[in-house]
Amino acid sequence: MVSPETLRRLGLQPGRIVETIVASYTAEGKPHAAPMGVLLEEWGTVAIRPYVETWTYRNLESRRQCTVNLTGSPKLFLSTVFKGEPEVGGLPEGFFLPALKVEAPRLRDADGWLEVEIFSGETLEGRGLFKGRILRVKAVPRLPEAYCRAWFAAIESIIHATRVLEYSRAGRRSEADRLARLIASYRSLIGRVAPGSEAEEAVEKLASILSRYGFKPEAYSELF
Ligand SMILES: Cc1cc2nc3c(=O)[nH]c(=O)nc-3n(C[C@H](O)[C@H](O)[C@H](O)COP(=O)(O)O)c2cc1C
Repeated sequence: MVSPETLRRLGLQPGRIVETIVASYTAEGKPHAAPMGVLLEEWGTVAIRPYVETWTYRNLESRRQCTVNLTGSPKLFLSTVFKGEPEVGGLPEGFFLPALKVEAPRLRDADGWLEVEIFSGETLEGRGLFKGRILRVKAVPRLPEAYCRAWFAAIESIIHATRVLEYSRAGRRSEADRLARLIASYRSLIGRVAPGSEAEEAVEKLASILSRYGFKPEAYSELF
């Protein structure tokens, strides 16, 4: 059993949703990763809620094991959510390493990871609800990092961008526009506080992806 103190030090608390990258193997054994919100239900138990159309849903359903990777890197979030888009490309060689206690890959560049075995799974209104036991936790020692608003803004933008595309596909254009405006505002903030950073690189790639899907940054950025 992983101690509550260890989980607390990693930012995990019962009732709190954290944004992570869940890595799992496909049925054919290919490593896979996608950003997912993860809820610590109680000490030692997580809940993961992938939509049924995702690879993560299929992998958790068939393999019942995964790692929950902890990172604040906009680059890692972007490369695992928009994999295959020309701005991002595929996941590079050496991106994954094997976990130790579960049969699942983990991300080489994460700051830490939880090794999780799924013990129950159900599907409610198009979304899986997988509950898993945390079997092992590993954290990479790191120096403290000064807080910079750009990192929060870039990751929020990545989350909003996934919804912009979903809303747009569902014909909910005004909701998509509202989020595209938020992204434009974050993009301008990032340009001010962290020019040339990983966060800026991520948000510029995002702007290019959205632009190809019909959300031209110029249409929103003039508002800021
Ligand atoms: C920070 C973040 C959190 C996300 N959380 C979820 C989630 O809880 N469930 C979900 O289905 N999609 C979530 N998404 C969207 C998925 O990552 C995205 O749909 C992904 O393409 C699905 O991946 P897959 O088909 O490769 O498994 C999230 C995206 C981001 C950026």
